[in-house]
Amino acid sequence: MITATQTIHKTARWNPIFRPVNTCRTRYRVLKGSAGSGKSVNIAQDYIKKLSDTRYTGANLLVVRKVDDTNRDSMFAELESAINRLFGDYADKVWRITRSPLLMECKTTGSRIIFRGVNDQRQREKVKSVTFRNGKLTWIWIEEATELQEADIEILDDRLRGELSNPNLYYQMTLTFNPVSATHWIKAKYFDVDSLDVLTHHSTYLDNRFIDDGYHRRMEMRRERDPEGYKVYALGEWGETGGLILTNWRAHDFDIAPERFDWYRYGQDFGYNHANALLALGGKDGELYICKELIRHECDTGEVIRDATAQGWRKDVPMWCDSSEPDRKHTWQAAGFNARGVNKGGSAGSVHAQIDHLKAYPAIHVHPSCTHTIKELQQWKWRFDDKRSLYLDEPVEFFDDAMAALRYGIEDDRREMPHYRAVRVRR
Ligand SMILES: Nc1ncnc2c1ncn2[C@@H]1O[C@H](COP(=O)(O)OP(=O)(O)OP(=O)(O)O)[C@@H](O)[C@H]1O
Ligand SMILES: [Mg+2]
Repeated sequence: MITATQTIHKTARWNPIFRPVNTCRTRYRVLKGSAGSGKSVNIAQDYIKKLSDTRYTGANLLVVRKVDDTNRDSMFAELESAINRLFGDYADKVWRITRSPLLMECKTTGSRIIFRGVNDQRQREKVKSVTFRNGKLTWIWIEEATELQEADIEILDDRLRGELSNPNLYYQMTLTFNPVSATHWIKAKYFDVDSLDVLTHHSTYLDNRFIDDGYHRRMEMRRERDPEGYKVYALGEWGETGGLILTNWRAHDFDIAPERFDWYRYGQDFGYNHANALLALGGKDGELYICKELIRHECDTGEVIRDATAQGWRKDVPMWCDSSEPDRKHTWQAAGFNARGVNKGGSAGSVHAQIDHLKAYPAIHVHPSCTHTIKELQQWKWRFDDKRSLYLDEPVEFFDDAMAALRYGIEDDRREMPHYRAVRVRR
C-alpha cells in the first residue's frame, strides 16, 4: 500500500517564505500578500499534506469563501490541483473527490474537506451545524478573507472548541487575502495587536519562485502605470479601495443558457503579452450577465480559436472585438466566427460612453466561474493624481483586458437601446 507521506516528499515543491506558516500551531494564521505570491497554492498543499498524514487523524477542514459558488470554481480546483501535485498518479488512491456535494475525503486518514459560504443567514446557520464522520472540525481556511464581515469570522471561530482526543491535533483558522484598505477590520484585529495566538505573514510575488517571467513583466508595467495599485497588488501593502469604476456587480450562480437572455453577445480584447480576454454576455430585463470567460496569456490567435472551439463557443453569436487589430479579427472570421470590429470612434470618448453604460445597469451579475473577470472588476480603478489627491476621469490602463472585452461586448446594447428597455434581438 502507498502511504501518503511516502508519495508527498517525492513530488512537492514549496516556497520557503511559507515555512514558518506551515509549521506554526497558533490559533490564527493570517496571510496577507500580493497577487501571485503563492499563498493559495501553499495553503492548499499544506492542508492536503497534513490531512493525508495519519499523525493528524481526526482533523477536518472547512473551506470558506463569502460566496459559496466561488468555492466550487476556485478553492475546490486549488485543492484538487494540490492533491494532483502531491500524489501524481496515486491521487485517486489517496483521495476521494466528489463534486455534488463538493467533498474531498482522504482514504488513508478519513479526514474530510467541505466547502461553505457565509453570504446570508441560511448559509451562516449551515456553518454552525457542520459535523464530520471521523473526528472534529479542527481547521478552517478563509480565502479572500477581506470579503467577510468580522461577525462571520466570529461565527466560524466559535466552531473550533472542545477537547481533542488526538494530542497532535490543534485548532487553527487560516486567513488568506490581498490587503485592500488600511481601515479594514482585519488589520485592526490581527495586525495592530500583539498576540501569541496570531501569526501574521507577508509575501509578495517576488517571494514566489514559481511565478512566470510574464507575470514579473506585467507587475513592472503596473509599477509604471499605476504606482498606487502596485503597492497593494504587487507589494501586498495596505492600500485604499477608493476610485473603483464599477460597484454595481456581484458574483453568484445563475443559469447561463443563451436562450434565457433577451440578447446574447461575445466581447473580445485581443492580447498576447496582455491577456486575450473573451467574454460571453447576456442581457435580461435591463440587467447584464457575464456568463463565461476564456482568458489566455501568451497564446497566438490560432490557439485561442482552438480553445474556444473546444469549449463550445458558438460561431453564430456576434463577437465584438477590438477594431485596432483587423488581422486577428479576420483570423477569427476565417475560422467561421461572427467577429466584428468595435468602431472605437473618438477613442477616449467612447471608453467613457461604454463605462457610463456599464455603470447605469441596475445590476451586473457575474457567474462565479469567471474568476479572472471578478479579479479585474475588484481592481478596475480611476487613475489617482498624487499631487492633487484626487481621482482623475481616466481608467488605469492595467489588468483591464476582461474589462475591455466587457466594454466591447455591450456595444449593441449601448447603441441600439437604453439599458433599461429589454428588447429581444435576433440570435
Ligand atoms: N509551491 C508551488 N509550486 C508550484 N507552483 C506554484 C507554487 N506556489 C505558487 N505557484 C505558482 O504561482 C502562481 C500564483 O500562486 P498563488 O495562486 O498561490 O498566489 P496567491 O498568493 O494565492 O495569489 P492571489 O492573491 O492572486 O490569490 C500559481 O498559479 C502557480 O502557478
Ligand atoms: Mg490566491
